[in-house]
Amino acid sequence: MKNYLVIGNPINHSLSPKLHNFWIHNNNIDAIYEKQLIEENQLENLILKVKEKKINGINVTVPFKKAVIPFLDELSFEAEKTQSVNTIYLDSNKIIGHNTDGDGFLKALKHDADFDPKQKRVVVLGAGGAAKAITEALGRAEVSSLVVINRTQAKAESTAALATDVGTVGDLEDISEADLVVNATSLGMKDNATQFPCPVDLIHSDQLVVDLIYHPLKTPWLSAAEQKGARTHNGVSMLLFQATEAFTLWTGQQAPVSTMLRAIEEELERRS
Ligand code: ATR
Repeated sequence: MKNYLVIGNPINHSLSPKLHNFWIHNNNIDAIYEKQLIEENQLENLILKVKEKKINGINVTVPFKKAVIPFLDELSFEAEKTQSVNTIYLDSNKIIGHNTDGDGFLKALKHDADFDPKQKRVVVLGAGGAAKAITEALGRAEVSSLVVINRTQAKAESTAALATDVGTVGDLEDISEADLVVNATSLGMKDNATQFPCPVDLIHSDQLVVDLIYHPLKTPWLSAAEQKGARTHNGVSMLLFQATEAFTLWTGQQAPVSTMLRAIEEELERRS
């Protein structure tokens, strides 16, 4: 039997076990996926178990996405660039750290909105971990411009640099020029529910607006963007597709998404 694990602190609310165990069962794989609350000083021993093949794959969540790096043998291109790991596996006896958040976001754009970012103008609001992952992926997807807007300018600069050649730091004036606007700040999450990441007057009906937040499922800002006529999507699909990417990497098998999308939304609705 194969063993998979998601680690973080806190970890109780992680939806990953629900997703992966559904796919494991659905695909008739002899495996189990569990969650484990850990402290930083447990990281090294836990990751060693991947080399010993006692654990076959680890998903990493907040606050350990960077802290795991010293204990890995190699990083994928995406993990190296963003200095953030969410998926660990063994390849040719080397422990590899990868990050599926960026590709998960691109797949979500395709799935939800049939949106191809190539030659599109993008504004990313925020410059934390999520913003870095999507900026790197959008750069690879050949957007024509990517403007990062963030409260802390130094972080905006390091994030924009991840979209090689096209990333710049901007301000609110850039928003109305964008084809795609993404909220990657935490403004709109439960504790900051009423705060908007940008004034909604800057949003218009030719735009696709994505809020990476999924708790609540629809932030007041996303509702306001919808009122402006923009096409809008929340962060549930990115959550789902970062998991399908990890599942496929570990098992070589596809993970069916259609039933899980609704199942996650129902679970999140129950929790709110
Ligand atoms: P994540 O890993 O989910 O991306 P994060 O790394 O904590 O989370 O990033 C949070 C983002 O929300 C950052 O861009 C942060 O801005 P700063 O870089 O200036 O800290 C942004 N953010 C959080 N609270 C904010 C607030 N009150 N006003 C403006 N931006 C805020």
